[in-house]
Parts: sequence; structure tokens; C-alpha cells
Amino acid sequence: MGKIVKITGPVVVAAGMKNSKIYDVALVGELGLLGEVIQLKGDKAIIQVYEDTNGLKPGEPVKGTGMPLSVELGPGLLTTIYDGIGRPLLALAKKTGNFIGRGITADTIDKKKKYDFKPLVKVGDAVGPGSIIGSVEETQSITHKILVPPDALPGKITKISKGKFTVEEIVAVVKTKKGDLKLQMYHKWPVRKPRPINTKLSPEIPLITGQRVFDTFFPLAKGGTAAIPGPFGAGKTVSQHQLAKWSDAQIVVYVGCGERGNEMTDVLTEFPELQDPKTGKPLMDRTVLIANTSNMPVAAREASIYTGITIGEYFRDMGYDVALMADSTSRWAEALREISSRLEEMPGEEGYPAYLASRLAQFYERACRADTLAGNQGSVSIIGAVSPPGGDFSEPVTQNTTRLTKILWGLDANLAYSRHFPAINWLTSYSLYTKTLAGYFESQVGSDFNSFREEAMKLLQKESELKEIVQLVGPDALKEEDKLVMYTAGRLREDFLQQLATHEIDTFCSLDKQYLMLKMIMETHKKASRLVESGVKVTQISALPLTEAIGRMKYVQKYKEEIKNVEEQREKEFQKLVGGHK
Ligand SMILES: Nc1ncnc2c1ncn2[C@@H]1O[C@H](COP(=O)(O)OP(=O)(O)O)[C@@H](O)[C@H]1O
Ligand SMILES: [Mg+2]
Repeated sequence: MGKIVKITGPVVVAAGMKNSKIYDVALVGELGLLGEVIQLKGDKAIIQVYEDTNGLKPGEPVKGTGMPLSVELGPGLLTTIYDGIGRPLLALAKKTGNFIGRGITADTIDKKKKYDFKPLVKVGDAVGPGSIIGSVEETQSITHKILVPPDALPGKITKISKGKFTVEEIVAVVKTKKGDLKLQMYHKWPVRKPRPINTKLSPEIPLITGQRVFDTFFPLAKGGTAAIPGPFGAGKTVSQHQLAKWSDAQIVVYVGCGERGNEMTDVLTEFPELQDPKTGKPLMDRTVLIANTSNMPVAAREASIYTGITIGEYFRDMGYDVALMADSTSRWAEALREISSRLEEMPGEEGYPAYLASRLAQFYERACRADTLAGNQGSVSIIGAVSPPGGDFSEPVTQNTTRLTKILWGLDANLAYSRHFPAINWLTSYSLYTKTLAGYFESQVGSDFNSFREEAMKLLQKESELKEIVQLVGPDALKEEDKLVMYTAGRLREDFLQQLATHEIDTFCSLDKQYLMLKMIMETHKKASRLVESGVKVTQISALPLTEAIGRMKYVQKYKEEIKNVEEQREKEFQKLVGGHK
């Protein structure tokens, strides 16, 4: 038992803490506020406190728990909204009348609710760390697998139950070499410690998002990492919501650190209302929401991304594909900065601590596609939004994040201003997964998909060079073939890259539709090039009704028929141009 000697904001110094370890949880003050030991100096422990420290006084007691900050993992996680350290906000609110009651330990998962446990092993079966012993229908959409904790000893099942139990009741007993291991439906795991896997698998399956600029141009792999930096209002939150709704991950973990005061409130009220477009069931059935509202203490925000990734890894270990969204990690980095300054540490670039990069790495490095301990395949993909002040990507959080992630989806204020949405800049964005995913696209989507993408990208780059020339000498200076490049690049931008999240049909675009749309535009370019070579003017081509028809493709549900029709229309109209020219 120690004693408080100093309080500065969320940081408390306690003396008499000789037996503490770094990252141990401590209960601070008379109220027993939750904190974490982040530094030790002699018998003094520096503790970051996850709750409001107002009113705390020197001399109050501090109790070490000897346990690292952990989260409870078991049935009941889905559909729930948590704070940064895994306390359910609604349960907290019930106890205290608001979201920020102090010294309240609310269980992460409901201990009273009974779940129908279906055993998947029998007496005599060998099980090991991470094995699946049974399942529970947690929500309408998700079967929750019950796992042997990853740090347990292997052994043989000597008892297994079936029927309705709370998460705390014993459902199985395993005989290990160190005695009987009694298994409940949940276990605890320290949030800062990656959960073990069998082996990492290469990122060769795309996480399909239904958003053309992502899937076709800068594709994300299952188990991959992406950064979405962008200035205020450019579309970070809309992008993250689109990914939460449409990506083909079975589980979504959404970590919200609100930019505007009411933004988290929007998420909290909006998400529970959303439907999973694929199943028609509530989106929350497959979602875990971690919310850091601005009135919550900064230290809990610092912990929130680790709590989120731990929950993500837990579902990965069941064999699910998980997508973790963090919006915005800049607010997280500011929490780190505030704590660091309270610790009077030497500030690094722009006041962020020198360990900003390593802390970000401890988060992003936990993304992967894995062969799990249970022998399944699962993945956790991480998509982090970054909000650089003034949209300047050279600031430390953007720089350190994009060094770690394999994708940069760069949002651009000018594009957003001209209402080109998603405002992803196609010239500065990149994905390092296009190579590892090429095989998938070739065999599952279209053998020429990768080459269409490359050609399209070249046209867009060429367009930007031509634009500079046009600015200097006017459009008439361009050769006809360059005018055609401008025409096709226009189709790519307006008819392919632009995709409104709000459009009933175009909000989601299947990979097959993306492929056929791109093929249509690129084949039109090729055929038009031949016309231009034979003397047809680009203005004649652009004036064809075909141009409008291409623009309509994305809005049509029955796209296969539609694209066929546009193809026929193109043949007819092009034929006429050839005829007219002769
Ligand atoms: N894909 C999109 N489709 C339609 N509108 C969009 C899209 N992305 C952004 N917007 C528009 O831009 C606004 C700001 O986007 P938001 O995601 O809140 O920005 P940020 O989170 O970067 O501050 C939205 O309210 C919406 O009107
Ligand atoms: Mg936002």
C-alpha cells in the first residue's frame, strides 16, 4: 500500500510502491480510481489515472494490484459500447447516472446473462492454448467460439458441459500436468500484450470494401494496415463508417476518439441504428464500439487503441476477419503528448514524446492475417484515421503512422472542396499490397484487372502532367491523342473514382462491378485511340451519348446487363463515326 505524494492532471506520484511493476494496475485514492504504473523511480510509482483526478489529495492511499491492465474477453462483447479501458458505458451510466462516474469497476462483460453453451470437444480430447472448446450464439449474426486462454497449459478434457451458463460458471475441466484447469466462458488478457498466434500468413486476400478507389486502386489486404490522413472535413469519418458498414470483415471494432464534441455522440446514437447492409440485421450485432468522448480522461484514450486491438485479436483467434477502425489517432497521440508533458519528459517533435513512433508501432504491428492457435485462419486489419493540423502531412503523427502502414489513403482538401468524394488523392496515395494481391485479383476477378489498373493509373498521371501544359498554353495546344487522355482520365475520375457514400446504390460496389466498369472505360479508351488515329476528333467522341451512358453505369443495380448495353451502344456510335469520317 502506497501514498499519494503528487498529483498533476491525470498523473499521480505515489510513494511506498516498491513491489510494483511497470504497467501494473493501481487503485488510486479513497475512491480507488483506476490507474496504471507507467514509471518507477525508487519506491515511487508514476501512475497514469484513467479517471478524473479532481479532488484527489496527497496522503490518500494507493493500492497496487500486481496485475497488468487487462480486458475481459468472452460472450457479451458484441453490441456493447465501451470506454477506453473496456468498461461498458451503459452499465457505468446505470450505476452513476452519467458516463464518468469514478472508482467504478464495471465488468467488461455481463456476468449475470446466461448463454447457451454448445460443446465442440468431448471428454478425452486433447486441447491446448487457444483451442476452441465450444460455442455460443452471441448475436443473430455471430457465433462466439469459446477458447482455452492462450497462456493455459495443454491437457485432456475430463469434463465438458452443455446448456445455459453465465460466463463465470465452469463449462469444462482440463487435466494438465500441473493439475486441473477449470474453464469459464471468458478469460482476461493484458491489453498491451499481443495475443499469440501459430504463424503469420502473407497478405494475399483483399479486404473488400465496396469502395472503388480503395479496392481497385489502393487495395487493402486482410490483416493489413492503412492510414487515412486528411484535414478537417475531408472525409475521414465518412470513410471509416463506409468501411465499418461494407467491408467484408465479420467483426468490426470501432475506436472513436472524437474530433468535435458532438462527433462521438453521433457515433453513439447512429451506430446502434445502422443495419448491416448484407444481412439486414443490426450492424451492432457484429460490432464492438470503444468511445472516448471528450469529457473522458486522456489516459483512457491512450489505452483505448490497445483495448481495441486486444478485442480484435480475440475474435481473430476464433477464425474471424476483423477490421479495426480508429478515428482519429491524432486525438490518441494528443493524449500521449499530454501525459508525457505531465511527466515532464523531454519533448520531441512538436511536443510529442520521443516514444510516439514505438507506441504507434505497438499498435499497428498487431495487425496480421494468421494461422491461429486453434488452427483456423483469422485476421485483424487496422485502418487508422489521422487528422494533421492544417492538412500538413509532414507533421509527426502522420509521418510516423505512414511509415508503419502499408497503405496511404490520402484525403485532399481541394478534392473535398470540389465535391470529389471520396476525396482520396489518386496521385499521392499508394498501396504496397497490389503485388501480393495480384494473384487473387487475377484468378478471382479478371485476368486483365491488374493491367487495367496500371494503365488507368498511368492515364491519370499523364492527365496531371497535361493539365500543367494546358494551364500554360491552353487546351488547343494539345495533340488529339493527349486530348483523348484527358477525356478518359475524366471518365476515370468522375465515373469511376467518385462514389457517394450517400447514394442508395453506389454506396457499395462489388469487385465484379468495379472490374466491369473499369474494363468498359479502358476498352473504350483503346477503341477511341484507333478512331483518333484514323482522324476522328476527340470532341466528336466526347459528344456521343456514350459518354453519358458510361457515367450512368455506377448507379445501375443490374450492372451486367447495363454494361453489355453500353458496349453495344459504343459499337454502334463508334461505327457511325468511322462511317461519317470516310
Ligand atoms: N464518400 C463520401 N460521400 C459523400 N460525401 C462525403 C464522402 N466523404 C465525405 N463526404 C462529405 O464530407 C463531409 C465531411 O466528412 P467527414 O468524414 O466528417 O470529415 P472528417 O472526418 O475528415 O473531418 C461529410 O459530412 C460529407 O458531406
Ligand atoms: Mg471526423
